[in-house]
Amino acid sequence: MTDKKNDPRIIVALDFPSSDSALQLARRLDASQCRVKVGKELFTRAGPALVEQLQQMGFEVFLDLKYHDIPNTTAQACLAAAELGVWMVNVHALGGRRMMGAAREAIDKASHRPLLIAVTILTSLDSDELHEIGLSGSPADNVLRLARLAESAGLDGVVCSAKEVSTLRQVVADNFQLVTPGVRPAGAAVGDQKRVTTPQEAMQLGSSYLVVGRPITQAEDPLAALAAINASIEGEKIPG
Ligand code: C5P
Repeated sequence: MTDKKNDPRIIVALDFPSSDSALQLARRLDASQCRVKVGKELFTRAGPALVEQLQQMGFEVFLDLKYHDIPNTTAQACLAAAELGVWMVNVHALGGRRMMGAAREAIDKASHRPLLIAVTILTSLDSDELHEIGLSGSPADNVLRLARLAESAGLDGVVCSAKEVSTLRQVVADNFQLVTPGVRPAGAAVGDQKRVTTPQEAMQLGSSYLVVGRPITQAEDPLAALAAINASIEGEKIPG
């Protein structure tokens, strides 16, 4: 893994429908200033070949496929991601302790060990929907419970919104990675994000890494947008 000195905090979400468009954007970025995130749509269309190309260009990749299956299947999928060489991979905490533990064990055996992160509760779910699927308590209660479970199952961190960061920081270890999407530089278009936080606020609250998509990918000059975000968080304390 990159040493702490060159451990960029920004993960650019490559939410593109094709390999060509994702690579076109990646060529306009600088791998020393960010990581990139490849999610379900892009991976389903472009596959491991794209991940390899991005890595050859020097980018470390967060493979955001949110695995959720029986322990053995999830573990093997995480091992495949580790062998592909990705920097970070994620699973759903709702798959349970044994599933998360199996994933942890599988990637520990790989020669390259990615960071293993959990998704707690999808931010798209409201209280009514949680109750409908049989989860009592508020979304915040569930996020807290599942983050603790992920930590105790040996995971490296969770994806969480900025509004959850300070509460989570009080209950998890400093080196437990809190990866935060929904970040918008002051003045940027909010798009479909409901609650947004500036990159600086998110870091001050205790986020470890920030996922930023459209404010960079749709910018006239993506590298300048990235550099401005990096400048806005320079000097902020890095957890752990
Ligand atoms: O373009 P934007 O900055 O809104 O992109 C945010 C990225 O983070 C997208 O890839 C989105 O799927 C992801 N994400 C999110 N909210 C979550 C989890 C993931 O916006 N709760």
